[in-house]
Amino acid sequence: MSTSSSSAAERDFKKELLKIFFIVLVVFLICLSIFFENHHENNTYVTKTLELNGSAEEGDALFKMNCVGCHGIKARGLVGPDLHSITQRLNDKEIIKQVTGGLTPPMPSFEIDPDNMSNLLKYLHSLE
Ligand code: HEC
Repeated sequence: MSTSSSSAAERDFKKELLKIFFIVLVVFLICLSIFFENHHENNTYVTKTLELNGSAEEGDALFKMNCVGCHGIKARGLVGPDLHSITQRLNDKEIIKQVTGGLTPPMPSFEIDPDNMSNLLKYLHSLE
């Protein structure tokens, strides 16, 4: 009697374990798909931006509105670093990541469409 009841308990326990394992698996798969979805979105954003040929003047205007507070009116640096010759140190992808990623506080992440991002890149290239 006691063996059969303990094996029933064991069976329940295994069922519980299986349930937990299943839930963990589903959560893991959801995380994975979100990660890949994001990755894909980032890639299409970067590809789109790099396909465009922006305007340095428009980029200059954007820079004056969004960036001068920290990088200085002539991009010579203030709170943030001097951005002259930045395009020799970072490639376009890295600059896009810097501007949109918000990975280096206090610099915020900017939600900027590919057209304007392309203009900004052109402006930064003109600083060389
Ligand atoms: C609130 C202040 C702030 C604003 C606004 C800001 N930045 Fe920055 N930025 C920084 C700081 C601080 C760093 C240095 C971050 C670090 O490396 O830790 C930085 C770094 C950078 C870098 C990388 C420099 C390097 O030497 O690696 C680039 C490129 C850049 N910013 C571009 C921009 C552009 C373009 C804008 C406007 C769209 C902008 N930033 C707006 C503060 C700011």
